[in-house]
Amino acid sequence: MQTMRVKSILTEKPLVEKIKVSGWIRTTRDSKSFSFIELNDGSVITNLQIFIDKSNAELVKLIPDLTTGASIEAQGALKASPGGKQDVELHAERITILGKAPAEEYPLQKKRHSFEYLREIAHLRPRTNTFGAVTRVRNALSFAIHKFFQEREFLYIHTPIITASDCEGAGQMFQVTTLPLDNLPRENGNVDFSKDFFGKKTFLTVSGQLEGEIYACALGNIYTFGPTFRAEHSLTSRHLAEFWMIEPEMAFCDLKQNMDTAEEFLKYIIGYVLEHCAPDMEFFNKWIEAGRMETLQKIVASTFTRITYTEAIAELEKAKVDFEYPVKWGIDLQSEHEKYLTEQVFKNPVIISDYPKEIKAFYMKMNDDNKTVRAMDVLVPKIGEIIGGSEREADLEKLRARLHELKLDEKEYWWYLELRKYGTIPHSGFGLGFERLIQFVTGMQNIRDVIPFPRAYTSAEF
Ligand code: 4AD
Ligand code: MG
Repeated sequence: MQTMRVKSILTEKPLVEKIKVSGWIRTTRDSKSFSFIELNDGSVITNLQIFIDKSNAELVKLIPDLTTGASIEAQGALKASPGGKQDVELHAERITILGKAPAEEYPLQKKRHSFEYLREIAHLRPRTNTFGAVTRVRNALSFAIHKFFQEREFLYIHTPIITASDCEGAGQMFQVTTLPLDNLPRENGNVDFSKDFFGKKTFLTVSGQLEGEIYACALGNIYTFGPTFRAEHSLTSRHLAEFWMIEPEMAFCDLKQNMDTAEEFLKYIIGYVLEHCAPDMEFFNKWIEAGRMETLQKIVASTFTRITYTEAIAELEKAKVDFEYPVKWGIDLQSEHEKYLTEQVFKNPVIISDYPKEIKAFYMKMNDDNKTVRAMDVLVPKIGEIIGGSEREADLEKLRARLHELKLDEKEYWWYLELRKYGTIPHSGFGLGFERLIQFVTGMQNIRDVIPFPRAYTSAEF
């Protein structure tokens, strides 16, 4: 007898053979002579209907324990279903209960639960339609990302999670230490970090970019795809303390080519999910955000709008909107501004380039005006910034000057500077926030609901 997953059963419909299937009961329906089980095994959003004929006394005995949440193995023949909703159903000949789920206690009832409640039961939420769909889409996007870069011969580089350098220079790092916090070793009144595990202060990485640059400056195009950590005290629907980032770094590449790659990349991976995750995407379209699929299809077919920061500020100053955060040249764009540009003005993804140096990181290439840097952010409707990137400063002296200006210690970045001292090259890259991408694709409102186990300011359950 063939053991099959629900997805294959529903696509292949092997009507003649006897099959075996395992999964969890989602719901049951009972009538005088029949009983029906809706079984889900995670392979696809659709349930398999299992038909129980009550003339089978062995099966009837099991019915009290065939409740929502119970795990079972069922054997039988697949037959055409007379009911309207499904083409086929399994006519049970034998059912084994693998694990009961006491009906009155099982936390996932038939009704719809709030996402806030489901976050409290993150060990059971993958058994809901929404989280099953998010998980399959997350998986497909991961695969599409590797596929995109591998097809273009980018090398996948594993950059370190523990690091001694602050890539973004923003000081939002989690410190890693094995020093006894209640009895710190001291030297002249200060904590003596030479006694720490690595002999110096270390942190969880905020970005793999600087190490990525080392490899791009030797092997050509590379990418990273790993976890990053930011100790931001933000309680927004777009910020996590632990999130996954994809960071390509391209050798012999300027800002224009960087923007071209970012645009091609986003369209490719969104197109991949539309093609390969149709049942899940239809679910999001129906239950999470009406019109999501159409919006994504339009984006895949569109050309992203490209403007400079200075042009963006001019658009915002023209706006007849009372922004909470007043607009003037030099401000860091807030989410309200990003949303206004993408949703109201351009109704399209927008790439903004050439930001003031004051609001961007030290490593970005300086423009001739000495005021703006060759940065670029990709903004999308509803989310705002989804990608941040730049052309890197390749000139040793300019980079040093910038470090000094920002009062960053040159010694800490000695190896980064040597990439400019020996055989420097123009190079560029960007970072895509993986969870923001999943939010954008699925329409899920809160970033905590697109990662299996969210870590955010004041919460790290499970
Ligand atoms: O703009 P960011 O800070 O850029 C960098 O880290 C660069 N080193 C990337 C590079 O050039 N290689 O972050 C990149 C993206 C953002 O656009 C956003 O999508 C996401 O990472 N991101 C976050 N996602 C979730 N929670 C947070 N706290 C995030 N901070 C940034
Ligand atoms: Mg950014």
